[in-house]
Amino acid sequence: MRVEGDNMVPRGNETDDEVVLDTTSFEQAQQRQKQLVIGYALTTKKKKSFLQPKLEVLARQKGISFVSIDQEKPLSEQGPFDVVLHKLLGNAWHEVIEDYQQKHPEVTVLDPPGAIQRIYNRQSMLQGIADLNLAECDGMICVPKQMVVLKDTTSSANEVEEAGLKFPLVAKPLLVDGTAKSHQLFLAYDRLSLAELEPPLVLQEFVNHGGVLFKVFVVGDVIRVVRRFSLPNVSNIEKSKVAGVFQFPRVSSAAASVDKSDLDPRVAELPPNPLLEGLVRELRSRLGLRLFNIDIIREHGSKDVFYVIDINYFPGYGKMPDYEQVFIDFFLSLAQAKLNKR
Ligand SMILES: Nc1ncnc2c1ncn2[C@@H]1O[C@H](COP(=O)(O)OP(=O)(O)O)[C@@H](O)[C@H]1O
Ligand SMILES: [Mg+2]
Repeated sequence: MRVEGDNMVPRGNETDDEVVLDTTSFEQAQQRQKQLVIGYALTTKKKKSFLQPKLEVLARQKGISFVSIDQEKPLSEQGPFDVVLHKLLGNAWHEVIEDYQQKHPEVTVLDPPGAIQRIYNRQSMLQGIADLNLAECDGMICVPKQMVVLKDTTSSANEVEEAGLKFPLVAKPLLVDGTAKSHQLFLAYDRLSLAELEPPLVLQEFVNHGGVLFKVFVVGDVIRVVRRFSLPNVSNIEKSKVAGVFQFPRVSSAAASVDKSDLDPRVAELPPNPLLEGLVRELRSRLGLRLFNIDIIREHGSKDVFYVIDINYFPGYGKMPDYEQVFIDFFLSLAQAKLNKR
C-alpha cells in the first residue's frame, strides 16, 4: 500500500539531446497509483448511494480503487485488500468478517461486527450515553427514558408507570434489521393502547423538540451535522384528549435538509461544537466504530439540553455534505496510519 507521494507522475528519461519516454516506469507509476484497495460488501442500495461517480473519480485520482467482494467466494481468496468496508446483516456474514480479520490483522476492517451488532439493538445502542463524561462541553446530552418490552405489552402498562415513563410513548422495534418494519414507529398516547403494539420493542418517552432533528455524521475524526424535519411538538391538550396508537410518518428521512431561515433560531441552531466533539469522541471509543451517525434532538424550550434518540451504522452518507472528499481523506489517513506503524 502506498499513499500519494513522489513518483506518482510518469517521468521521461531525459538526455541532453533527446527525450525518451520510459514506458516501464510509466506502468510502474500507474501500478503505484492503484495502491489502496478497498474491498466492499454492501447491499445494492447502499452501493448506489455511497459509490457515486464523484467519489470514484476522486478516489482514482488518489490511487484508491474499490473492489466488490463476492459473497459466494471465500473472502481470503479475494483481494488482497487494504481496507474492507462492509454493511451486511446476519451471523454468517459476521463470522466471515471476524474470521477474516483474525487471519488478516494487516487489513483495516470497517468496522468490527460485534460493535455494529450492538447498535442494531435499540436498548444496547443507547446504553451508557447518559453516563458519558461531557462536563467540560457546552450543554448536556441525555437519552429519553425508555424500557424494553419483550413479550406482553398488556402487562407492560404497569411497568411503564413503575418506571416513571410519561405518555405519549414512542414504540420502536427492538431490533434494527434493515427492513422497513424495523423502522416503523408508533406513538402511544395511553395505557390501553399499549396492547395494540407488537413486541419486542422499546417504549421511549416522546421529547418535544420543535420539529427539527440534527443528524450528526461521523467519518473517523470528522463530524458533519445537518438539520432535518422531524415530528412537531405534542401539546398538553393533545396529551389529555388523544387516545390510541398512531403510526409515525417518515418525516426525518426526507432527502431535503431544512433551511435554517424558515425556522425559529432557538430551534434551528446547531448543537455547540464542543458538545458534539465530546460526544463523538466518547462514542467512537466506547462503541468501537468509525462510521456512524447520531440522531439528536434539542429539548424544546432549552438552549443546550439534547437527547440522543438513534445511532446508525454506515448511514446514508450520500446526504452528508462533501462526503466524497471526507471519505477520500479518511481512506488516505488509514493508509498513512499503516505506513507510520511499519
Ligand atoms: N424519543 C423521541 N422523541 C421525539 N421524537 C422522536 C423520538 N424518537 C424518535 N423520534 C422521531 O422519530 C424519528 C425516527 O426515530 P429513530 O429512533 O431515529 O428511528 P429510525 O431507526 O426509524 O431512524 C426520529 O427521526 C424523530 O423524528
Ligand atoms: Mg433515525
